[in-house]
Amino acid sequence: MRTYVALVTLIGLAWPLASARAQEMEAVPDSVTPERVLAGSVTFNGGSCIVCHAVAGRGSGRWAPDLSDGEWLHSEGDFDGIWSTIYWGVKKEDFKATKPRRFEMHPKGGMPIEWEQVRELAAYVWTISRPNTHPMVAKQTQFLELARVGEVDEAIDIFRQAQRDYPEHWLLQEPSLNRLGYEFMPAWAQMAQKIFELTVDLFPDSWNAYDSLAESYMVLGDDRKAVELYEKSVAMNPENTNGLDKLKELGAR
Ligand code: HEC
Repeated sequence: MRTYVALVTLIGLAWPLASARAQEMEAVPDSVTPERVLAGSVTFNGGSCIVCHAVAGRGSGRWAPDLSDGEWLHSEGDFDGIWSTIYWGVKKEDFKATKPRRFEMHPKGGMPIEWEQVRELAAYVWTISRPNTHPMVAKQTQFLELARVGEVDEAIDIFRQAQRDYPEHWLLQEPSLNRLGYEFMPAWAQMAQKIFELTVDLFPDSWNAYDSLAESYMVLGDDRKAVELYEKSVAMNPENTNGLDKLKELGAR
Protein backbone atom coordinates (compact mmCIF):
# COMPACT_ATOMS: atom_id res chain seq x y z
CA MET A 1 0.00 0.00 0.00
CA ARG A 2 2.72 2.39 1.01
CA THR A 3 4.73 1.54 -2.10
CA TYR A 4 1.65 2.16 -4.18
CA VAL A 5 1.08 5.58 -2.61
CA ALA A 6 4.76 6.46 -3.10
CA LEU A 7 4.60 5.38 -6.71
CA VAL A 8 1.47 7.35 -7.42
CA THR A 9 3.00 10.40 -5.73
CA LEU A 10 6.16 10.00 -7.76
CA ILE A 11 4.25 9.75 -11.02
CA GLY A 12 2.09 12.66 -9.94
CA LEU A 13 5.16 14.79 -9.36
CA ALA A 14 7.12 13.66 -12.37
CA TRP A 15 4.32 13.87 -14.89
CA PRO A 16 3.89 17.67 -14.99
CA LEU A 17 7.68 18.08 -15.12
CA ALA A 18 8.00 15.60 -17.94
CA SER A 19 5.14 17.10 -19.92
CA ALA A 20 6.41 20.65 -19.32
CA ARG A 21 9.79 19.57 -20.68
CA ALA A 22 8.16 17.87 -23.66
CA GLN A 23 6.32 21.09 -24.44
CA GLU A 24 9.46 23.16 -24.15
CA MET A 25 11.25 20.89 -26.55
CA GLU A 26 8.41 20.86 -29.06
CA ALA A 27 9.50 22.62 -32.24
CA VAL A 28 7.51 25.67 -33.23
CA PRO A 29 5.69 24.83 -36.50
CA ASP A 30 6.44 26.99 -39.54
CA SER A 31 2.85 28.25 -39.53
CA VAL A 32 3.29 29.72 -36.05
CA THR A 33 5.29 32.82 -36.98
CA PRO A 34 5.98 35.46 -34.30
CA GLU A 35 4.00 38.06 -36.29
CA ARG A 36 0.96 35.79 -36.52
CA VAL A 37 1.05 35.18 -32.78
CA LEU A 38 1.04 38.92 -32.10
CA ALA A 39 -1.79 39.55 -34.54
CA GLY A 40 -3.74 36.55 -33.22
CA SER A 41 -3.51 37.90 -29.70
CA VAL A 42 -5.10 41.17 -30.83
CA THR A 43 -8.03 39.34 -32.46
CA PHE A 44 -8.44 36.90 -29.57
CA ASN A 45 -8.13 39.35 -26.68
CA GLY A 46 -10.00 42.15 -28.42
CA GLY A 47 -12.76 39.97 -29.85
CA SER A 48 -15.41 37.39 -29.10
CA CYS A 49 -13.12 34.55 -27.98
CA ILE A 50 -12.69 36.00 -24.48
CA VAL A 51 -16.45 35.94 -23.89
CA CYS A 52 -16.30 32.15 -23.45
CA HIS A 53 -12.61 31.24 -23.16
CA ALA A 54 -11.74 34.22 -20.90
CA VAL A 55 -8.69 36.46 -21.12
CA ALA A 56 -5.84 34.82 -23.05
CA GLY A 57 -7.87 31.58 -23.22
CA ARG A 58 -7.48 30.72 -19.56
CA GLY A 59 -11.15 29.98 -19.12
CA SER A 60 -12.73 29.10 -15.83
CA GLY A 61 -14.31 26.12 -17.56
CA ARG A 62 -17.84 27.40 -17.23
CA TRP A 63 -18.49 28.40 -20.83
CA ALA A 64 -15.59 26.84 -22.66
CA PRO A 65 -12.42 24.87 -22.04
CA ASP A 66 -9.13 26.37 -20.88
CA LEU A 67 -6.99 26.64 -24.00
CA SER A 68 -3.72 27.01 -22.12
CA ASP A 69 -3.60 23.75 -20.18
CA GLY A 70 -2.18 21.58 -22.96
CA GLU A 71 -5.21 19.26 -22.89
CA TRP A 72 -7.10 19.12 -26.15
CA LEU A 73 -10.64 17.89 -26.72
CA HIS A 74 -11.04 18.47 -30.45
CA SER A 75 -7.60 17.92 -31.95
CA GLU A 76 -4.10 16.85 -31.06
CA GLY A 77 -3.26 20.45 -30.21
CA ASP A 78 -1.37 20.78 -33.49
CA PHE A 79 -1.63 23.91 -35.64
CA ASP A 80 -3.91 22.38 -38.29
CA GLY A 81 -6.20 20.79 -35.72
CA ILE A 82 -6.57 24.03 -33.78
CA TRP A 83 -7.09 25.92 -37.03
CA SER A 84 -9.85 23.56 -38.07
CA THR A 85 -11.71 23.89 -34.74
CA ILE A 86 -11.62 27.67 -34.96
CA TYR A 87 -12.67 27.66 -38.61
CA TRP A 88 -15.63 25.29 -38.18
CA GLY A 89 -16.59 26.01 -34.56
CA VAL A 90 -18.03 23.35 -32.24
CA LYS A 91 -21.70 22.36 -32.45
CA LYS A 92 -23.59 21.30 -29.33
CA GLU A 93 -23.80 17.67 -30.44
CA ASP A 94 -19.99 17.63 -30.76
CA PHE A 95 -19.23 18.87 -27.25
CA LYS A 96 -16.62 16.69 -25.63
CA ALA A 97 -16.42 17.97 -22.08
CA THR A 98 -18.61 16.43 -19.42
CA LYS A 99 -19.38 19.89 -18.08
CA PRO A 100 -22.63 21.19 -19.48
CA ARG A 101 -21.98 24.21 -21.70
CA ARG A 102 -24.78 26.51 -22.65
CA PHE A 103 -23.59 27.95 -25.92
CA GLU A 104 -22.01 26.37 -28.91
CA MET A 105 -18.98 27.90 -30.57
CA HIS A 106 -19.92 29.43 -33.90
CA PRO A 107 -17.44 29.17 -36.78
CA LYS A 108 -14.63 31.71 -36.15
CA GLY A 109 -16.22 32.55 -32.81
CA GLY A 110 -19.00 34.31 -34.75
CA MET A 111 -16.63 37.03 -35.94
CA PRO A 112 -16.55 38.27 -39.55
CA ILE A 113 -12.85 37.54 -39.96
CA GLU A 114 -10.65 36.75 -42.93
CA TRP A 115 -8.89 33.50 -43.75
CA GLU A 116 -5.49 34.82 -42.61
CA GLN A 117 -6.93 35.99 -39.29
CA VAL A 118 -8.04 32.42 -38.55
CA ARG A 119 -4.43 31.33 -39.10
CA GLU A 120 -3.26 34.09 -36.76
CA LEU A 121 -5.74 32.92 -34.12
CA ALA A 122 -4.56 29.33 -34.53
CA ALA A 123 -0.94 30.47 -34.13
CA TYR A 124 -1.85 32.34 -30.96
CA VAL A 125 -3.91 29.46 -29.49
CA TRP A 126 -1.06 27.04 -30.32
CA THR A 127 1.27 29.35 -28.37
CA ILE A 128 -0.77 29.98 -25.22
CA SER A 129 -0.25 26.40 -24.10
CA ARG A 130 3.49 26.75 -24.89
CA PRO A 131 3.97 30.30 -23.56
CA ASN A 132 7.74 30.15 -23.47
CA THR A 133 7.93 29.89 -27.25
CA HIS A 134 6.96 33.57 -27.62
CA PRO A 135 8.22 36.40 -25.36
CA MET A 136 4.99 38.40 -25.53
CA VAL A 137 2.80 35.42 -24.62
CA ALA A 138 5.22 34.61 -21.79
CA LYS A 139 4.72 38.18 -20.49
CA GLN A 140 0.92 37.85 -20.81
CA THR A 141 1.07 34.68 -18.75
CA GLN A 142 3.19 36.36 -16.09
CA PHE A 143 0.86 39.36 -15.99
CA LEU A 144 -2.26 37.23 -15.59
CA GLU A 145 -0.76 34.89 -13.03
CA LEU A 146 0.28 37.84 -10.85
CA ALA A 147 -3.02 39.67 -11.27
CA ARG A 148 -5.08 36.61 -10.43
CA VAL A 149 -3.27 35.99 -7.15
CA GLY A 150 -3.89 39.62 -6.23
CA GLU A 151 -0.39 40.98 -6.98
CA VAL A 152 -1.97 43.71 -9.06
CA ASP A 153 0.77 46.35 -8.69
CA GLU A 154 3.45 43.90 -9.79
CA ALA A 155 1.24 42.77 -12.65
CA ILE A 156 0.78 46.35 -13.81
CA ASP A 157 4.57 46.88 -13.76
CA ILE A 158 4.92 43.90 -16.10
CA PHE A 159 2.24 45.35 -18.36
CA ARG A 160 3.98 48.72 -18.57
CA GLN A 161 7.36 47.10 -19.25
CA ALA A 162 5.80 45.06 -22.05
CA GLN A 163 4.24 48.18 -23.49
CA ARG A 164 7.72 49.49 -24.18
CA ASP A 165 8.59 46.24 -25.99
CA TYR A 166 5.32 46.05 -27.94
CA PRO A 167 4.16 49.67 -28.30
CA GLU A 168 1.74 48.88 -31.12
CA HIS A 169 0.23 45.69 -29.77
CA TRP A 170 -0.51 46.20 -26.09
CA LEU A 171 -0.03 43.21 -23.87
CA LEU A 172 -3.83 42.80 -23.78
CA GLN A 173 -6.55 44.70 -25.59
CA GLU A 174 -9.07 46.91 -23.84
CA PRO A 175 -11.93 44.35 -23.70
CA SER A 176 -9.59 41.91 -21.97
CA LEU A 177 -8.43 44.42 -19.37
CA ASN A 178 -12.05 45.35 -18.74
CA ARG A 179 -12.99 41.72 -18.32
CA LEU A 180 -10.09 41.05 -16.00
CA GLY A 181 -11.08 44.05 -13.86
CA TYR A 182 -14.62 42.67 -13.54
CA GLU A 183 -13.25 39.38 -12.25
CA PHE A 184 -12.44 41.36 -9.09
CA MET A 185 -15.80 43.11 -8.83
CA PRO A 186 -17.45 43.80 -6.50
CA ALA A 187 -15.60 41.93 -3.72
CA TRP A 188 -12.12 43.26 -4.52
CA ALA A 189 -13.10 46.58 -6.04
CA GLN A 190 -9.81 48.21 -5.07
CA MET A 191 -7.91 45.78 -7.25
CA ALA A 192 -10.43 46.18 -10.05
CA GLN A 193 -9.94 49.93 -9.77
CA LYS A 194 -6.21 49.61 -10.42
CA ILE A 195 -6.87 47.60 -13.56
CA PHE A 196 -9.53 50.08 -14.73
CA GLU A 197 -7.17 53.00 -14.03
CA LEU A 198 -4.57 51.34 -16.24
CA THR A 199 -7.24 50.84 -18.91
CA VAL A 200 -8.31 54.49 -18.87
CA ASP A 201 -4.68 55.55 -19.01
CA LEU A 202 -3.94 53.35 -22.03
CA PHE A 203 -7.26 53.86 -23.82
CA PRO A 204 -8.34 57.41 -22.96
CA ASP A 205 -10.85 57.49 -25.83
CA SER A 206 -12.90 54.60 -24.48
CA TRP A 207 -16.21 55.57 -22.90
CA ASN A 208 -16.53 52.03 -21.60
CA ALA A 209 -13.23 52.25 -19.72
CA TYR A 210 -14.54 55.35 -17.89
CA ASP A 211 -17.82 53.58 -17.17
CA SER A 212 -16.02 50.65 -15.52
CA LEU A 213 -13.73 52.92 -13.51
CA ALA A 214 -16.80 54.86 -12.34
CA GLU A 215 -18.42 51.63 -11.15
CA SER A 216 -15.41 50.74 -9.03
CA TYR A 217 -15.60 54.16 -7.34
CA MET A 218 -19.32 53.67 -6.75
CA VAL A 219 -18.75 50.26 -5.16
CA LEU A 220 -16.06 51.77 -2.95
CA GLY A 221 -18.47 54.50 -1.83
CA ASP A 222 -16.86 57.50 -3.55
CA ASP A 223 -20.04 58.75 -5.20
CA ARG A 224 -18.66 62.17 -6.11
CA LYS A 225 -15.84 60.67 -8.18
CA ALA A 226 -18.24 58.08 -9.63
CA VAL A 227 -20.56 60.85 -10.86
CA GLU A 228 -17.64 62.73 -12.41
CA LEU A 229 -16.48 59.63 -14.31
CA TYR A 230 -19.98 58.56 -15.40
CA GLU A 231 -20.58 62.11 -16.69
CA LYS A 232 -17.38 61.86 -18.69
CA SER A 233 -18.38 58.45 -20.10
CA VAL A 234 -21.86 59.67 -21.03
CA ALA A 235 -20.41 62.81 -22.67
CA MET A 236 -18.24 60.51 -24.83
CA ASN A 237 -21.17 58.23 -25.63
CA PRO A 238 -24.63 59.73 -25.02
CA GLU A 239 -26.10 56.25 -25.65
CA ASN A 240 -24.40 54.75 -22.63
CA THR A 241 -27.66 53.79 -20.94
CA ASN A 242 -25.91 52.07 -18.05
CA GLY A 243 -24.07 55.32 -17.29
CA LEU A 244 -27.31 57.31 -17.49
CA ASP A 245 -29.09 54.86 -15.14
CA LYS A 246 -26.23 55.02 -12.66
CA LEU A 247 -26.26 58.83 -12.73
CA LYS A 248 -29.97 58.72 -11.85
CA GLU A 249 -29.29 56.21 -9.09
CA LEU A 250 -26.61 58.53 -7.72
CA GLY A 251 -29.07 61.43 -7.79
CA ALA A 252 -26.98 63.38 -10.29
CA ARG A 253 -29.69 63.61 -13.00
C1 HEC B 1 -20.00 31.08 -27.26
C2 HEC B 1 -18.82 30.57 -26.59
C3 HEC B 1 -17.52 30.45 -27.40
C4 HEC B 1 -16.86 31.42 -28.15
C5 HEC B 1 -17.29 32.86 -28.41
C6 HEC B 1 -15.65 30.80 -28.63
N1 HEC B 1 -15.58 29.50 -28.20
FE1 HEC B 1 -14.07 28.19 -28.59
N2 HEC B 1 -15.14 26.70 -27.67
C7 HEC B 1 -16.36 26.87 -27.06
C8 HEC B 1 -16.87 25.56 -26.66
C9 HEC B 1 -18.19 25.31 -25.94
C10 HEC B 1 -15.89 24.61 -27.06
C11 HEC B 1 -15.95 23.09 -26.94
C12 HEC B 1 -16.25 22.57 -25.59
C13 HEC B 1 -16.47 21.09 -25.54
O1 HEC B 1 -16.22 20.35 -26.52
O2 HEC B 1 -16.94 20.63 -24.50
C14 HEC B 1 -14.81 25.38 -27.69
C15 HEC B 1 -13.64 24.82 -28.18
C16 HEC B 1 -12.59 25.53 -28.73
C17 HEC B 1 -11.34 24.96 -29.13
C18 HEC B 1 -10.94 23.51 -29.02
C19 HEC B 1 -10.31 23.24 -27.68
C20 HEC B 1 -9.87 21.81 -27.48
O3 HEC B 1 -9.70 21.44 -26.32
O4 HEC B 1 -9.69 21.09 -28.46
C21 HEC B 1 -10.56 25.99 -29.63
C22 HEC B 1 -9.15 25.88 -30.19
C23 HEC B 1 -11.35 27.21 -29.53
N3 HEC B 1 -12.56 26.90 -28.97
C24 HEC B 1 -10.90 28.45 -29.91
C25 HEC B 1 -11.72 29.58 -29.94
C26 HEC B 1 -11.33 30.86 -30.54
C27 HEC B 1 -9.98 31.18 -31.14
C28 HEC B 1 -12.40 31.70 -30.40
C29 HEC B 1 -12.55 33.11 -30.93
C30 HEC B 1 -12.47 33.24 -32.39
C31 HEC B 1 -13.46 30.94 -29.73
N4 HEC B 1 -13.01 29.67 -29.48
C32 HEC B 1 -14.71 31.46 -29.41
C33 HEC B 1 -17.03 28.04 -26.86
C34 HEC B 1 -16.71 29.25 -27.47
